[in-house]
Amino acid sequence: DTNAACNLVAAIIANAIKEKPDLVLGLATGRTMEQLYARLAEMHRNDGLDFSRCRTFNLDEYIGLPVEHPGSYRYYMNHHLFNNINIDPANTFLPDGMAADIKAGCAAYEQKIAECGGIDLQLLGIGADGHIGFNEPLSSLCSRTRDKTLDESTIKVNSTLFDNPDEMPRSAITMGVGTILDARSVVLLATGKSKAEIIAKAVEGPVTSMVTASALQFHQKCRIVVDEDAAA
Ligand code: F6R
Repeated sequence: DTNAACNLVAAIIANAIKEKPDLVLGLATGRTMEQLYARLAEMHRNDGLDFSRCRTFNLDEYIGLPVEHPGSYRYYMNHHLFNNINIDPANTFLPDGMAADIKAGCAAYEQKIAECGGIDLQLLGIGADGHIGFNEPLSSLCSRTRDKTLDESTIKVNSTLFDNPDEMPRSAITMGVGTILDARSVVLLATGKSKAEIIAKAVEGPVTSMVTASALQFHQKCRIVVDEDAAA
């Protein structure tokens, strides 16, 4: 069930931190991750899981939302995870959706990941259109961090998280598929019936830029964790 899937991913992350306390951890946002982050915060509180030396890089951020906006991914991460664990805020990185020069900001983000030695473990969710990060259909499978116009289906699903759906930005900065594939290991978490069809395509279908998650079939160390509904 969903609980078991989230606990398994939390255990994978906790083990990785225990093995390498200065882990470089790639993070995702979205509804699926809320329960996982609650579990990680609980493991910090009750079992002393120590994030003090971890560095984190989020997959994506909306363009044009200030960090204090409740719809921004920085706000989401502070609220659901960073404020509830012992991570140093200076070691938490998200793309800068307010950068005056978006292109330069994207290059700087890639540079920062490289400076930290690359991502050890990248956490992913999957969108109904098969996106990982915000790599919407027809994203190049070797793309790097860049700005991306969001798909209509993504706008429809994600705008419900905004008090006023019209406030949802139509573009975002996202790590590229190539950036994600560079991570030394990857774990994708998908739960619920709404993900069953796209999980089947990503895992068993042809590798195609129409379903960017299918590129994970090329990854040497990728785990897909699903509940029974998403595995259906
Ligand atoms: C978010 C992200 C997205 C989500 C995906 C699923 O940082 O990268 O790819 O993982 O849209 O979102 P939920 O979990 O809300 O279904």
